[in-house]
Amino acid sequence: SDRPRALSGIQPTAGSFHLGNYLGAVRQYVALQDTHDAFYMVVDLHAITVPQDPAELRANTRLAVAQLLAAGLDPQRCTLFVQSHVPEHAQLAWVMNCLTGFGEASRMTQFKDKSAKQGADRTTVGLFTYPILQVADILLYQADAVPVGEDQRQHVELTRDLAERFNGRFGETFRVPAPHIVREVAKIYDLQEPATKMSKSASTPKGLVNLLDEPKATAKKIKSAVTDTGTEIRFDREAKPGVSNLLTIYATLTGTSVPELEARYEGKGYGALKTDLADVVVEFVTPFRARTQEYLDDPETLDSILAEGADKARTVAAETLAQAYEKVGF
Ligand code: ADP
Ligand code: NA
Repeated sequence: SDRPRALSGIQPTAGSFHLGNYLGAVRQYVALQDTHDAFYMVVDLHAITVPQDPAELRANTRLAVAQLLAAGLDPQRCTLFVQSHVPEHAQLAWVMNCLTGFGEASRMTQFKDKSAKQGADRTTVGLFTYPILQVADILLYQADAVPVGEDQRQHVELTRDLAERFNGRFGETFRVPAPHIVREVAKIYDLQEPATKMSKSASTPKGLVNLLDEPKATAKKIKSAVTDTGTEIRFDREAKPGVSNLLTIYATLTGTSVPELEARYEGKGYGALKTDLADVVVEFVTPFRARTQEYLDDPETLDSILAEGADKARTVAAETLAQAYEKVGF
């Protein structure tokens, strides 16, 4: 393929995707299939940097894959796999560990944040070196673009530094990825507290729309979303965060522009907007839930999709690793 190569990792810890995950990230993964040679992996190696329950991790990994397929990732048009199925990730990570300065790794702000939350005694060395595993994840596929959020920028910079260091020391081996930071195209906010991002861990229960929840419960959440004083349906993040959030969800789910929606709802109340949006969301989540369940009910199909994905990924990863091993003197 002469398309640029993109690689993205998806945490298996999320359980059900929420509306923010879907509209801010997963939808872009689906779109990238048509413009990029896209590799998507569920990063179970990263998931064990914090304590995990084995059965839960296994179930969540499969649940993430089922939801990605339900959302429209197509194994014919992208490479979808589970990180631990491709041992080259851990193998290249070791080489990269040996190329990274201790001080350099210590400057990763995500580690500082996460370890501060857990305390020194409960923080693992795995958490400390996980940005370096991420470096290996990216370099193995000779990725041109790494569609990550702003919070991952420092890790992409580390990837570039280490790729250049390796290439400089041992000869041209790795493509240096562009710091392709994709902003969340649509940022979705809590339905009850529209100043804060919708998030698995931080959202209020009534403010979080999980895609796998009962559609009836979801409709109810949308209808009881916090709106703002006044009656006018207008996009204004500052003055009308609640209404603006509903307009964003509506626009991104239906492909209608916000101005178009503003015109459509001129003179109508918030109630009409919420009722219609509840229908729109229900229309989306109903088949999404059904497709997810179909994949979960058919473990053989899921296994074979993942086996094929791992094969495709390994073809690329093994070639890169062989070159790197050769260069370092193995
Ligand atoms: P959470 O914050 O709920 O734990 P993650 O951090 O696992 O979600 O994010 C997974 C992906 O979903 C990331 O690409 C992230 O940028 C995107 N994402 C998460 N929450 C939102 C949101 N409220 N709006 C838009 N995108 C989001
Ligand atoms: Na997050």
